Amino acid sequence: MCGIVGYVGDQQARDVVIEGLRRLEYRGYDSAGIALVHDGVITSAKRAGKLANLEKAISEEALPAATVGIGHTRWATHGAPNDVNAHPHLGADGRVAVVHNGILENFARLRDELERAGHDLVSETDTEVAAHLLELEVQSGADLTTAMQNVCRRLEGAFTLVAVDGQDPTRVVAARRNSPLVVGIGEGENFIGSDVSAFIEHTREALELGQDQVVTITRDGVAVTDFDGNAAEGRRYHVDWDLAAAEKDGFDWFMRKEIFEQPRAIGDALLGRHDEDGLLQLDEVRISDDELRDIDKIIIIGCGTANYAGMVAKYAIEHWTRIPCEVELAHEFRYRDPILTRNTLVVAISQSGETADTLMAIRHAVKQKARVLAICNTNGSTIPRESDAVIYTHAGPEIGVASTKGFLTQLIACYLLGLYLAQVRGTKFGDEIGAVVRELAQMPDRAQRVLDQSDAIYALAKRFKDEKSFLFLGRHAGFPVALEGALKLKELAYIHAEGFAAGELKHGPIALIDQGLPVFCVVPPRGRDQLHDKMISAIQEVRARGALTIVLAEEDDTEVAPYADVLIKLPIVPTLLQPVVATIPMQLFACELATLLGHDVDQPRNLAKSVTVE
Ligand code: AGP
Repeated sequence: MCGIVGYVGDQQARDVVIEGLRRLEYRGYDSAGIALVHDGVITSAKRAGKLANLEKAISEEALPAATVGIGHTRWATHGAPNDVNAHPHLGADGRVAVVHNGILENFARLRDELERAGHDLVSETDTEVAAHLLELEVQSGADLTTAMQNVCRRLEGAFTLVAVDGQDPTRVVAARRNSPLVVGIGEGENFIGSDVSAFIEHTREALELGQDQVVTITRDGVAVTDFDGNAAEGRRYHVDWDLAAAEKDGFDWFMRKEIFEQPRAIGDALLGRHDEDGLLQLDEVRISDDELRDIDKIIIIGCGTANYAGMVAKYAIEHWTRIPCEVELAHEFRYRDPILTRNTLVVAISQSGETADTLMAIRHAVKQKARVLAICNTNGSTIPRESDAVIYTHAGPEIGVASTKGFLTQLIACYLLGLYLAQVRGTKFGDEIGAVVRELAQMPDRAQRVLDQSDAIYALAKRFKDEKSFLFLGRHAGFPVALEGALKLKELAYIHAEGFAAGELKHGPIALIDQGLPVFCVVPPRGRDQLHDKMISAIQEVRARGALTIVLAEEDDTEVAPYADVLIKLPIVPTLLQPVVATIPMQLFACELATLLGHDVDQPRNLAKSVTVE
């Protein structure tokens, strides 16, 4: 998620904006920029890389004195992280500058319209389209507020837009839909930020904008309207947090904040990738349909949590495409001398895009002439750069070392890939694919319903905080969920935890069952009785030997309830999609247990966010 700052007042806008961007650096970014309004024009500067690169650039090209300005730190979604794609973006005549956080779903159509009207857009971004549209509005006589209202009515997707007009040094105008934006209310000055960290050093009086609202800040006022220009209200509040808490949006850990960001992240991973009929549109998969039709084997590689995402993906991709699909730990892959041909698709899953084991694995695959597709969260990182194609997960920066929203959005990207392959190869009818896409579109709300149970799950963590060992059981797509749940507990609470395929119990692990041993059990949806009944048998087996069963099952699954010492109710979802909701209670449990044990949840001992050594 990008960082945004806007300012109108008596201070030097350059200083206020740069300082605000520095406060937002924690969000992660790959380029930064600033635009100032002075003497009837806009002066802007932007650079790829860290804020220091921008500061060096503007110190060399001394920016003019100005009291109105905007700034941006970009987490790339559309377009590589370079100077040209950095924000702010200007209109054709440089009169309007815009910074943006989010994804404009219909930007390609609007870009095409502008180019057909003779506009020359120089970047790969969706944001530049908004700059040109706003400038056309002000050049036809609208003030910037009216221009913003008119343009926002044409935009689809998730966006926070902030703009200035070089010929109007009195205001900064912003708008939001499905993306955060707050106003800082000062004395003779006002601020805009993607979160309060941007201005908390200047004022603790904040105004949170609602959905589909436009705000105009001047030195002496803040005016809110809806997209039609009708007066509207934001939510006024006093910021009690210190800066550290503000960066975490009030949460104690980045990881906890990222767990609760998951509904939005799932929505962003889906945004712009299917039409209203469920037809997949994965333009970023730069492998031709003919080549995709020639694929006769898929090998999914990754490490840790990314490997578990691959295990979930296998069930879905094989079911929808009937292409044989192997899942392999990246660090094992190239040493087993895998059989790869031009018709093998290697799918490399990596949140950071820099994991050395995975990078070495794809280099081996490329040498063997296999096609490589990356599923990655970090735009422009090494793994997607060295792959033939990429599906970005659009989760936004994941600061916590333990992956949460990174994992769920990897699942979403894998589902989209599987459905896209089925669509291209014709192994599923359009209405069948559309039905799954409609289920996916409900996953943000379903994830939220699980998050709404967080207090009960925190109470569970408190109850079990002195336990020294946990087992996690699952079947089918629930088996990788069990592995992921165990990994979260290992890496955060430093507790022995082991995930098993429930069918494996009787082949040895059941000897581990002891009186009172807590066992998490992920129960498949009832639609697949042979799996559901077998999972109940496994729960009965461990319970009969003294285990304490913590059962995750569909909310109205009355069959399993009698065997659950603790029952965590999950929304009813299709079997293949259940990992998206079943993982969340385990994330919450591990995060809370580690907190109770006094561990550093964001930086667990011995771990790095990206393992760049083999
Ligand atoms: C997950 O919580 C861990 N942080 C770790 O297993 C991680 O998933 C693994 O190192 C892979 O990282 P990547 O997705 O950035 O490649």
